[in-house]
Amino acid sequence: LNHLAIIGAGNVGTAIAFTALNRGIARHLSLYDVDRPRAIGEMLDLRDGLQFVRPATIEAGDQMSVCADADVVVITAGAKQRPGETRLDLAARNAGLLRSLVPDIIQVAPDAVLLIVTNPVDVLTQLAVDMTGRVDGTVFGSGTVLDSSRLRHLIALRFAIAERHIHAHVVGEHGDSETVLWSSANIGGAPLTAAWTTGGGPIDEVEQARLLHQVRNAAYEIIAGKGATSWAIALATAQILDALEQTTQSSVLPVTGPLDPDLGLGDVCVSLPRLVDAKGAGPILPLVATDEELAAVRASVAAVRSTLEKIR
Ligand SMILES: NC(=O)c1ccc[n+]([C@@H]2O[C@H](COP(=O)([O-])OP(=O)(O)OC[C@H]3O[C@@H](n4cnc5c(N)ncnc54)[C@H](O)[C@@H]3O)[C@@H](O)[C@H]2O)c1
Repeated sequence: LNHLAIIGAGNVGTAIAFTALNRGIARHLSLYDVDRPRAIGEMLDLRDGLQFVRPATIEAGDQMSVCADADVVVITAGAKQRPGETRLDLAARNAGLLRSLVPDIIQVAPDAVLLIVTNPVDVLTQLAVDMTGRVDGTVFGSGTVLDSSRLRHLIALRFAIAERHIHAHVVGEHGDSETVLWSSANIGGAPLTAAWTTGGGPIDEVEQARLLHQVRNAAYEIIAGKGATSWAIALATAQILDALEQTTQSSVLPVTGPLDPDLGLGDVCVSLPRLVDAKGAGPILPLVATDEELAAVRASVAAVRSTLEKIR
C-alpha cells in the first residue's frame, strides 16, 4: 500500500502499525488519535525502529489531514470492552464515535477502503455502510478472521497439525452469537468428523460445542488477564491488508460486510467467507452449510439487527 492510515493509536491501532511495518505492508503509515501526545509518542517510538524494517515513513497527529489520500483506513478508535461487558454493550458508545469519524475520513481520503476493527464490528460496519452508501465491498470489517484463527489454533493443537492445513470458519457476528461452519471444516480435505485414527480421533458434537464456547470466550479471558487484546487482531488485520494489496489473486477471509439479500440470511453485516483483494471484500463463497448452521447465522444476523435498532 502507498498509504495506510490507522485511526486510534491505542493497543489495537499500534499493534497493527507495528505488524504492518514489520511486514512491509505500507510505504507510508499514519496514526490519527484525539490523544495527540499518545499518537506522537507512538510515532516517535516506531520511527526509532525504521532502520530494521522495509523503507517507510510515519506521520501522526490529532488532525484528520494526516490520513489524506490514504489507500486504506483502518478504524480502531473507540472505547474497549470492559471486563464482563459484552461487545454489543459497546455499541452505543462507539456508534457515536464512528458517526463523527466517517465523514471526516471520507473528506480527506475519498477513495480509501475503510476497514472497521472497532467493536461491535458488525454493527459499526453496517453503520459505516449506511453512512457512505457503499455496498461495493470498499467498506467492511475484520469480522471473524480473528475468531477463525483462534478456532484453527485449537484444532491444530488437538491434531498436532499446522494451522495452515486446517480449514474452518467462524461466521456470523464477531461476538457471543458467532457460530462455526462445522460441516465444511476440514483438514487437508478430510472432514473433522471423519474416521481420524490420529490426533485423538474425530471431533464430535460435544467437542464442537466446547470448542465454539472456547472461541467465543477467548477475548474475555485475555481481557481479564492483560486488559485488552492486541497481537492476534493485529496479525489478523495484517492478513486482511495483505489481501487488499493483491490485484491478481483473491484471499478467502471471513470478514464482515453487507449480505446479498438473495442468500436469504438477512440484511445486516455479518461475517461469511468472502473473496478479498485490491477491490475490497468481494463475493461470498458458495455456502456449504447444514440447515442448523444457517439457522445459527440467521440468529446472529438477528442479534446484530437488534443492536442496530436500539442505537439507530
Ligand atoms: N474486531 C476485533 O476482532 C477486535 C479485537 C480487539 C479489539 N477490538 C476493538 O478495538 C477497539 C480499540 O481497542 P483498544 O484496546 O486499542 O482500545 P484503546 O483504549 O487502547 O485505544 C483506543 C484509542 O482510540 C482513541 N480514540 C478515542 N476516540 C477517538 C476519536 N474520536 N478519534 C480518534 N481516536 C480516538 C483513544 O484515544 C485511544 O488511544 C475497541 O473497540 C475494541 O473492542 C476489536
